[in-house]
Amino acid sequence: MTGAVFTAEAVVAGYVPGLPIVQGASVAVAAGEIVTIIGPNGAGKSTFLKALAGLVPTTSGRVSLAGRDVTGLPAPELVRAGLGFVPQTGNVFTTLTIHENLVVGAHTVGGDLGPRLAAAYAMFPALAAKRGQRARVLSGGQRQMLAIARALMTRPAVLMLDEPTAGLSPKAVNEVFDDLRRLAASGVAILLVEQNAKAALRLSDRGLVLVEGRNRFEGRAADLLADPAVGEAFLGHRKAATPGGA
Ligand SMILES: Nc1ncnc2c1ncn2[C@@H]1O[C@H](COP(=O)(O)OP(=O)(O)OP(=O)(O)O)[C@@H](O)[C@H]1O
Ligand SMILES: [Mg+2]
Repeated sequence: MTGAVFTAEAVVAGYVPGLPIVQGASVAVAAGEIVTIIGPNGAGKSTFLKALAGLVPTTSGRVSLAGRDVTGLPAPELVRAGLGFVPQTGNVFTTLTIHENLVVGAHTVGGDLGPRLAAAYAMFPALAAKRGQRARVLSGGQRQMLAIARALMTRPAVLMLDEPTAGLSPKAVNEVFDDLRRLAASGVAILLVEQNAKAALRLSDRGLVLVEGRNRFEGRAADLLADPAVGEAFLGHRKAATPGGA
């Protein structure tokens, strides 16, 4: 895709040598765009994001970020190159304060944290109000806000999130999605993995259906939402009733 700030092509990755989980998956995200990966349990969505974040070994494929070939770089190098990752679990330190979580979030890149902390608190006033309290006091939705704010402390060009709405109330789900919309509007490229497939596609510009570690369907999110083959298998739509049929 031309104009993409982040491109992964034909990535093969897995935990055990000779047993690839991601088997040639590709994705591209432009600045300000939201791209969502959906697919069945065990399809390799989380493994794909972890591989892109440098946390799972990649055996082939090519990854580029902001015009630079970053294939095979270790995780801290990828963060310095502009990649942010919010994993599904363990994404905040519950025994540290909100403020400490944000400071720790920036450790890979360092630099003047003042403006970044101010930006984080401006974006998430609920966190500002509790900045001196331990993260364990936060609600599920606020924890996800903190996880996102932490990842933003390194000023990523691309933010990847693995199921940021898992286990949240409908209200908190909407808040997280609103935050992602605002982030994209500010120019960040967003790559999302979601079980909340329909709602996530409605939020997204483009989507990818990953099955058995490969791209099965991809395209504009609106087209995927309207595609009966995608709907029946991956969005829980019923088959259209045949005329006169039972
Ligand atoms: N740490 C690990 N070590 C070995 N195999 C793993 C590990 N994590 C996941 N797997 C395997 O990799 C495959 C893909 O898992 P992955 O978590 O990437 O799928 P997923 O699409 O994110 O699924 P879900 O929708 O349930 O989150 C599964 O067969 C899983 O058992
Ligand atoms: Mg997963």
